[in-house]
Amino acid sequence: MKKTPSPQPAKIESFDLPPGRILARKYEILGFVGSGWQGEVYMIRERATGIERAVKLFFPHRNANDKTAVFYARKLHKLRSCPILIQYHNQEKIRCKGQDITCLISDFVEGELLSEFLLHQPEERLPVFEGLHLLNTLAAGVQQIHTQGEYHGDLHADNVIIRRYGLGFEIKLVDLFHWGGRKRENIQEDVFDLIRLFYDAIGGKTYYAGHPPIVKQICCGLKKSLIAKKFKTAGHLRKFLETMEWD
Ligand SMILES: Nc1ncnc2c1ncn2[C@@H]1O[C@H](COP(=O)(O)OP(=O)(O)OP(=O)(O)O)[C@@H](O)[C@H]1O
Ligand SMILES: [Mg+2]
Repeated sequence: MKKTPSPQPAKIESFDLPPGRILARKYEILGFVGSGWQGEVYMIRERATGIERAVKLFFPHRNANDKTAVFYARKLHKLRSCPILIQYHNQEKIRCKGQDITCLISDFVEGELLSEFLLHQPEERLPVFEGLHLLNTLAAGVQQIHTQGEYHGDLHADNVIIRRYGLGFEIKLVDLFHWGGRKRENIQEDVFDLIRLFYDAIGGKTYYAGHPPIVKQICCGLKKSLIAKKFKTAGHLRKFLETMEWD
């Protein structure tokens, strides 16, 4: 007799958790914060202490066998001494829309996403000098990840939160990704993504030709092979930034 396959649970596109909803009896939802490829993030308050935190709920179809959530938690834990990353607290399981959902509790980061921050700059971009400051802050933070033989894996403008902006930047990265494969190649990919963030922050393709030579020395026309020859890790990039001669 032919076996009938068990019905696939409906794909969850959004968790739609309203403010006031209690999670795992311990946390109260304060509001929706953002969403991405892996899941949704809400601001929560721990009921026992009143402390505010963030919870990331993983979409089950992007978290088969809990692999995504577990890699994420382990990597954040391993890299807990890196100040550019959020601190992992604990994992919870909840029921939502008839399915078991894995939730990851972390620090809540106040600030503004780099993508939004750029939108209200003049011409929606940073002047080169400020862009270099941003890149240097990012490279210094990611350098500490690379020094531990790890990589971030998901560096883009929606994963960078600007906490403070003055003479320099204070930044947090809210996300991570585990790609598998060789670490050295993933570290190199981080370096490329950092340079891409800088390139976009100072205006992208539209303004590239008009930038001073130092920008071209860093961006290398976004050619991965040229970047890989010059900067193998965020540390190499940072060293270059700290010793470059301004022209
Ligand atoms: N700890 C946090 N504190 C404050 N805001 C956060 C926090 N974590 C995430 N966010 C916000 O929620 C959004 C989605 O979170 P996150 O990037 O972790 O989701 P994702 O599904 O992994 O996204 P991606 O598409 O980058 O993989 C972020 O872009 C950011 O705006
Ligand atoms: Mg993200």
